[in-house]
Amino acid sequence: MRKPTKEDKFSFGLWTVGWLANDPFGVETRPALEPWEYTEKLAELGAWGITFHDNDVFPFDASQAERDRIIGRLRDACEANGIVVEMVTTNTFTHPIFKDGGLTNNDRAIRRFGLRKILRNVDLAAELGATTFVMWGGREGSEYDSSKDLNAAFDRYREGLDTVAGYIKEQGYDLKIGLEPKPNEPRGDIFLPTVGHALALIAELDHGDVVGLNPEVGHEQMAGLNYTHGLAQALNAGKLFHIDLNGQSGIKYDQDKCFGHGDLASAFFTVDLLVNGFPGGGPRYEGPIHFDYKPSRTEGMEGVWESAAANMEMYLMLADKARAFRADPKTTELMAAASIPELSEATMADGESYADLLAEDDGDVAAMAAREYHFVELYQHAMRHLIG
Ligand code: GCO
Ligand code: MN
Ligand code: MN
Repeated sequence: MRKPTKEDKFSFGLWTVGWLANDPFGVETRPALEPWEYTEKLAELGAWGITFHDNDVFPFDASQAERDRIIGRLRDACEANGIVVEMVTTNTFTHPIFKDGGLTNNDRAIRRFGLRKILRNVDLAAELGATTFVMWGGREGSEYDSSKDLNAAFDRYREGLDTVAGYIKEQGYDLKIGLEPKPNEPRGDIFLPTVGHALALIAELDHGDVVGLNPEVGHEQMAGLNYTHGLAQALNAGKLFHIDLNGQSGIKYDQDKCFGHGDLASAFFTVDLLVNGFPGGGPRYEGPIHFDYKPSRTEGMEGVWESAAANMEMYLMLADKARAFRADPKTTELMAAASIPELSEATMADGESYADLLAEDDGDVAAMAAREYHFVELYQHAMRHLIG
């Protein structure tokens, strides 16, 4: 397998390789490196970009001078290693002040504090040349249905997002917001649990034009949903701004495994969509291939770098397989037999009236009911390419 290059546009959150592996049951199993040390090593492995939360880089209570010093050092490391800061996001979940959320906290003073933290970080994102600003509402939600006026909570969520999006526009920043849905963890129930919930809220925003999605593999699969369908609907709506690739094995806690190490067949079709697009054309995802995984707690520093490389290797292997699958004449033949190209044809003809449709003869209903699709054979053909 070839080594990843900058052209592959692979990027990693500093909190991924930087996770010290502390979980609710145990303390950290790995030492902490400096942000620029992670950056140098990722560059060496072939990554193109990094992403981070404000507090992955400088402490929550850092003075302005300390913040500037650390950011300066990181910026130098990025320049020296040809690394792009493609996305910045805000930590509104670790500090106890956010235990009931930032934008939807019942306490108005905390909501205002949260907004200030986010807006300052929008300035930083723009300053570093990031083009996506992810907003994952990890603590926006509840454990108890009695704890919130839910109508007011959704009003405040909309208000918060519009305030941030409006600020981006007012400042003239070349930045788009990517909402990241997740059903649960750390809250019992998180608001905007799926891609569909987020799309619906975006449609109600005043500044929704700069707000889209950053769907994560594991987060959709934790809800038993199909990640590729989520990406497809976001693309179809013109809202796929960023992606978080990782691996998840079914409806469990957020496993954050390497991409492809969960549901491999699903990962194949995700990559197929990303590298080949829809069979009939249509919107394409052109953004970074961003990994949001966690090196398992069993891994030491060698395992951290092996797992980082594994994400990129999985993507490249799947991309090769997906390209070969689509280029295979047998695939084209099976897709035609399945009438897949016909789905791109509008159901109503141009200018056709309701009367025309209603007057049409139903044709041979029994034959239509009995037709073959060969969907299983087409899927099996994909599996031949994947593991044959
Ligand atoms: C998680 C989330 C986070 C977000 C990150 C970006 O489940 O922990 O995926 O990793 O992606 O906070 O804002
Ligand atoms: Mn996750
Ligand atoms: Mn994520």
